Amino acid sequence: MGRNVAGLKNERIYQLLNNSDLTIQPIERAETLPSAYYTDPDYLEIERVAIFSRQWQLACHESQIPNPGDSICRTIGNNPVIIIRTNEMEIKAFYNVCKHRGGPMSVKKGTTSVLQCQYHGWTYLMDGSLRGVPQFDRVELFDKKDFGLRPVKTSTWEGLVFITLNENPDPLPNVMKGINERIAPIRISDMQYHTTTVDVIECNWKVYVDNYLEGYHIPIVHPELATLLDYRNYVTETDDFYSLQYSPFSSNTADNPYNVEDGRAYYYFIYPNIMLNILPGRLQTNIIEPAGHDKCRVIFDFFYSDRQQAIARGTTESDLKASADIQQEDIDICEAVQIGLRSDAYDKGRFSVKRELGVWHFQKLVKQSISQYFDIR
Ligand code: FES
Ligand SMILES: [Fe+2]
Repeated sequence: MGRNVAGLKNERIYQLLNNSDLTIQPIERAETLPSAYYTDPDYLEIERVAIFSRQWQLACHESQIPNPGDSICRTIGNNPVIIIRTNEMEIKAFYNVCKHRGGPMSVKKGTTSVLQCQYHGWTYLMDGSLRGVPQFDRVELFDKKDFGLRPVKTSTWEGLVFITLNENPDPLPNVMKGINERIAPIRISDMQYHTTTVDVIECNWKVYVDNYLEGYHIPIVHPELATLLDYRNYVTETDDFYSLQYSPFSSNTADNPYNVEDGRAYYYFIYPNIMLNILPGRLQTNIIEPAGHDKCRVIFDFFYSDRQQAIARGTTESDLKASADIQQEDIDICEAVQIGLRSDAYDKGRFSVKRELGVWHFQKLVKQSISQYFDIR
């Protein structure tokens, strides 16, 4: 073991890992993750170091920060991150933490290449170096060079910008391998940003992810959606770091709010908390940020390959409406499940081999990340 987790004593880490069975069983025999993983705040601390600090995280699409000085803020584990478009049109990311007393940054008003702390106004250049330190004369043994912003690694795939706190991550193209070929001729890089919606949901982040990863609940939780999908032909496929759910729409699509003429829709889950919902001409990305052990923030970004046309046709509006309706049904069930997971009557369940392959694959990766980080064999 021998890895530290901020805020947890070693004995506690030992106890947490010992109490949970991290062995991986085939889906036919596997049990679901123990409920403590969803209800004990200490497991979230384990996940912050073993999962969130190690994996690629979706920051945004390039079309969300098109111009020099544009920026966007995200959180990875306990770490706020700012992602910026520079004057050279590069994309850079830093821990969004001022080296003075920890304040947050934003691009300085009237500039495109200076970050300014929103607390006492220290300024930093786009290479992270500290430039302006107002009213700091008479401070001894202070060298600005020691107080630069800490950079965060970025990588771009098909216009999607990813960030990671891992110094030595799996190369992003390996993680995303095969997706482009599968969705062709749809190109994610063609998409233009339209709008964002955010929900704060009273459940552990993994409850939301588990729920996304199976169509098993569709007939019960989304009865209207169920009439549009060809549920018998719903497929789940898994790769190393992602899974794909694919459901053809049923032939009777007169009332289909998705207007999917050729019936193709791809639902990709990229481990650990990213979803790409891809339809011809349309992309919706979801980011699931933990906001405590029993709360998560779900960020939906909507994109269109021809945004103006999508607005003119009313597609954007009907997408937002359909998404909000389905999301509310998912929120209600996820919040109810979080309550169930806290109950004395529940610890672990089992998987449907036919319908819950994606959930099993996700939970397998969670276990693997923890075993690898703490070197448990
Ligand atoms: S915390 Fe940033 S200037 Fe004080
Ligand atoms: Fe759902």
